[in-house]
Amino acid sequence: MRHLLALLLLVLAALPGGAAEPAKSTFTIGDTEFLLNGKPFVIRCGEIHFPRVPREYWQHRLRMCKALGLNTVCVYLFWNFHEWEEGRYDWSGQADVVEFCRLAQAEGLYVLLRPGPYSCAEWEMGGLPWWLLKNDRIDVRSRDPKFLAPAVRYLKEVGRVLAPLQIDRGGPLLMVQVENEYGFFGSDPEYMGALRQALLDAGFTVPLFACNPPSTIAKGHRADLFQVVNFGKGGAKGAFTTLRKFQPTGPLMNGEYYPGWFDTWGSRHHTGDAKAVAEELDGMLTNRHSFSLYMAHGGTSFGLWAGADRPFKPDTSSYDYDAPISEAGWTTPKFAAIRAVFAKHLQPGETLPEPPPANPVITFPAVTFEACAPVLANLPTPVADRAPRNMEAYDQSRGCILYRTTVPAGPAGRLTVQGVRDFAWFLLDGAPVGVLDRRNGRTQVNLPARSKPARLDVLVEAMGRVNFGAEVVDRKGLVAPVHLLSGAEKTELTGWQVYRLPLDAPQLEALGWQPAPAAATASGPAFWRGSVTLAAPGDTFLDLRTWGKGVVWVNGRCLARFWNIGPTQTAYVPGPWLKAGRNEIVILDLTGPRAPTVAGLDKPILDELHPEFDIESFTRATGKPVFGKALAEGTFTPEIAWQTVTFAKPQQARYLGLELLNAHDGKGWAAVAELELLGIDGKVLMNSAWKILAVSSEERQGAACEAENMLDGQTATCWHSAWGERSAFPHHLVIDLGAAPTITGLRYLPRAGAPSETGRIRDYRLHLSDQPFGLKAP
Ligand code: GLA
Ligand code: CA
Repeated sequence: MRHLLALLLLVLAALPGGAAEPAKSTFTIGDTEFLLNGKPFVIRCGEIHFPRVPREYWQHRLRMCKALGLNTVCVYLFWNFHEWEEGRYDWSGQADVVEFCRLAQAEGLYVLLRPGPYSCAEWEMGGLPWWLLKNDRIDVRSRDPKFLAPAVRYLKEVGRVLAPLQIDRGGPLLMVQVENEYGFFGSDPEYMGALRQALLDAGFTVPLFACNPPSTIAKGHRADLFQVVNFGKGGAKGAFTTLRKFQPTGPLMNGEYYPGWFDTWGSRHHTGDAKAVAEELDGMLTNRHSFSLYMAHGGTSFGLWAGADRPFKPDTSSYDYDAPISEAGWTTPKFAAIRAVFAKHLQPGETLPEPPPANPVITFPAVTFEACAPVLANLPTPVADRAPRNMEAYDQSRGCILYRTTVPAGPAGRLTVQGVRDFAWFLLDGAPVGVLDRRNGRTQVNLPARSKPARLDVLVEAMGRVNFGAEVVDRKGLVAPVHLLSGAEKTELTGWQVYRLPLDAPQLEALGWQPAPAAATASGPAFWRGSVTLAAPGDTFLDLRTWGKGVVWVNGRCLARFWNIGPTQTAYVPGPWLKAGRNEIVILDLTGPRAPTVAGLDKPILDELHPEFDIESFTRATGKPVFGKALAEGTFTPEIAWQTVTFAKPQQARYLGLELLNAHDGKGWAAVAELELLGIDGKVLMNSAWKILAVSSEERQGAACEAENMLDGQTATCWHSAWGERSAFPHHLVIDLGAAPTITGLRYLPRAGAPSETGRIRDYRLHLSDQPFGLKAP
């Protein structure tokens, strides 16, 4: 009997793809190449995030990746997607990464894993769990035990779930990333070391690696982590040269190559040039460089999972990214261009399958919403508090929150609050009196005269938490007390009732519906309910153009955020989330629809901006600033590296002026990737309160190159002056620092990309002032 069993096992093990243990392989980092089973291997990888793809379509999208010509996919784990409640891990349904990896392996794809704990990715808080913010003080992404202990515990759990899927145990996992672009944030190699050790302790035996853009590799660098370098169009040559300085041997790999870019509300839709991308990938493959397309397929940040960029710019729910595989999983011209390149560089034994057919698409004509549930008429039991506190302090993760108190009778005055995260609607006895919008930093609303005490409601909407930079510590709701200003008097308003509105299933189920009002009278924050009866389900795009700002659910599933300012005007609904028969659509609209109807379209609308609908219109000072004598002047080099101007002595000032006199390429345009100021300790000053007051010109139409891109911390984005005639030197910009810090120097990073990109600054003059600069009429 024992012999028989042994024989059976032997036979099973010998069968290719048999039921016994899958064949084990090895993956190592050689002197010049990656080695897969000892043979040179080039990683043609593409990023795809399983939470951003409906589980029912995972296999379809992986087949699309394979047909694009990838041999590997890269997945982030978003810590908060697996541990939304502290200590309760979820690896099921949309969070079933094991199943996703198995499906990838079945399609012949290897997997790179990037488990965090921080991931960025335009995802709520960059993947960090919101409950970390219940600590009044916490240093995230550091060795602060309040952060490190739960992070290490999470990585241990990741190992329990995923270590068995490593290539040396028969799975598809080739390598595991430690942290994400840590050099953008900090410079402590021991923090990186602690996370590296946590992954080793969690059972990972495959190579561990770290990624950074070229300009930040040095920060937190460790020789015991393999380095890969992130860059976009035109960046390969410069980035690999920099990488070689840190890593004299080993294969050269790009960790993120951007074929497109993400979108934020109110800014132009991003696209990337297919031809240029295909050519650069061709160049990398010719040189046997490995890479990961970020994104191969972006998908959708469903529900409330989208993050926010900085200076505060919330991300759209569509994460189409202008990737080669579209949001709904379709081929694109970029897909064809990249596939043709990859076809030329297949490695021994590889074949390139045809893409699978696209999934069926359906449309439906506009349906009218018949029921309505005003937010103020559907409040839960409140919590009493002396002064309003942030949402996390009430153990609330996300959604909206309403703060209610009474203001005394009195003459007209103002209400002031130093921190609304992110939009606050003020209502007096139910009538709207003003809005505060975090994007512009205004802190006051007018309050009409009251003949008797009146009820004040402050309804705050939290959008996704910032996912990049120090601002990820993004507590929501009201983060400061509310004061009443009346003449010279300033009184703190106390005695609040706080209503938690997390926009979760229990809240939706408790809504009391009433017949919808006629559209003309429809205003104020309310839920709306409608339905569509379908003969058969299929993919569709909800047309939300007549709605204001809010959130949409389909059949109880939170689908997306919407906002009529665009650029996204539709919401992608995957067919498997619909059914034959009646499908319910619920919409929370905080500002009210122009018409409460929704149709299903056969195409997305991702590029329609409507600044005229914005909460406050966008303004810059016009006219030419009068600067006077410069504090410093000099010449920058064209090298794409941080360049520091150190002042003769520390300066205290609130306003920064910069005159840009010419560019290295001799043309008329100015471009800046990043601008930073150094404080008294030589550390970079926080810029969350900065506001760009004036800029000579900026490109908003031909490309999303607004001046805020200088302050977003992303080396891949830049301010670019307008492409039109107005773009003649000198250019100028003026920044209000919001306070008057002590400043010891300025740091400038030229725009990224090929040397031929326009606008790298040569000569400059720098001004600081504690008073606003005067403006000469244009
Ligand atoms: C960085 C991050 C990614 C993503 C991209 C922009 O490179 O590493 O997670 O946020 O920027 O899409
Ligand atoms: Ca930037």
